[in-house]
Formats: sequence, C-alpha cells, structure tokens
Amino acid sequence: MVFTAEKEALVVDSWNAIKADAGELGLKFFLRIFEITPSASGLFPFLRDSSVPLEKNPKLKRHAMTVFAMTCDSAVQLQRIGKVIVRDTTVRKLGATHMKAGVSNEHFEVMKYALLETIKEAVPHMWSDKMKGAWSKAYDKLVTAIKEEMKPIP
Ligand code: HEM
Repeated sequence: MVFTAEKEALVVDSWNAIKADAGELGLKFFLRIFEITPSASGLFPFLRDSSVPLEKNPKLKRHAMTVFAMTCDSAVQLQRIGKVIVRDTTVRKLGATHMKAGVSNEHFEVMKYALLETIKEAVPHMWSDKMKGAWSKAYDKLVTAIKEEMKPIP
C-alpha cells in the first residue's frame, strides 16, 4: 500500500492541531492503556519505584509524546521515502529497551488502540476512517521497525 501525500497530511495536520496539548493527551493515552492492561504499568521502572502520582510523572508524559511524535515522523518518511527509517543506534536501543522491559505484541496492540482513540477524541471534527487508516499504518510500520530489533539477549 502506497502512503500517499493525502495520508501524510491526515497525520501531520491532526498532530499539528493537538501537539500543544500533547502532555495532557499523553496522560490520557497512558491511562487508557493501563485501564485495558493494568499490568502494563509494572513494566515502567519509574512507575514501580516512584512515589509521584501517575498523572504527575514527567517520564510517562515524555514516553507518550515520543510515541506520538515518532508515529508522525513515520508518516512523513513513508510518504517521502516509502519506508520508516529510525536512526540505527536509536532503533537498536529501542528494540533492546522494550525487549528488556518485557513489552509484548499485545502491549503494542493495546497502545495502538489507545493511540487511535486518544487522537479521535482530540480532533473529533477532523476524524475519519481515512485518518484512522493513516495513523494506523504509520504506527504499524514504526512498531515493525522496533520489533525487528527486539531480539533475545544471547
Ligand atoms: C522506553 C518509545 C511502545 C514501554 C522507551 C523509550 C522510547 C520509547 C523512546 C526510551 C528509550 C530508552 O531509554 O532506550 C516507544 C515507541 C513505541 C513504544 C516509539 C511505539 C511506537 C511501548 C509500549 C510499551 C512501552 C507498547 C508498553 C506498554 C516502555 C518501557 C520503557 C520504554 C517499559 C523503559 C522505560 C524506562 O526504563 O525508563 N519507549 N515505546 N513502550 N518503553 Fe516504549
């Protein structure tokens, strides 16, 4: 499937419309993930060891923002060069970090659902099946790149 300029615009325009509120949205995004899979919060060392309430945790917000922003970057790359390129060192590190933390296929699926729902609620006036498809594709390709680097530690 070709990632058209229209798809890129659907992702980039909606991201531009919400990114000023990305901190708040990121929190909603993660609370939704933890609502569906409560055990997922145990994967994050900074949540396990922290006395800071979940909603005030800056690291959680940072992770959420990274997921939003990297998915948006993926849409741009898919349109411009037909594939997702995360810098070698970055994607290797991402693969290793997620492997070590015990992130599973199911976690990536729940995250995808939560991501789409969060964006849908943030831009109800812009949302469409096409926009959902474009965000889904950009996220799937990014996750494929990360999973390719999630190798068991020998
Ligand atoms: C760490 C991005 C999906 C759980 C990280 C880091 C980044 C990142 C940039 C910090 C990198 C590092 O320290 O090496 C992403 C992206 C995702 C994704 C772009 C999907 C597109 C997930 C999912 C989960 C998850 C689905 C689990 C629900 C974690 C955990 C850490 C982490 C537990 C380690 C935190 C720590 O030790 O401080 N992720 N992530 N990530 N991520 Fe993700």
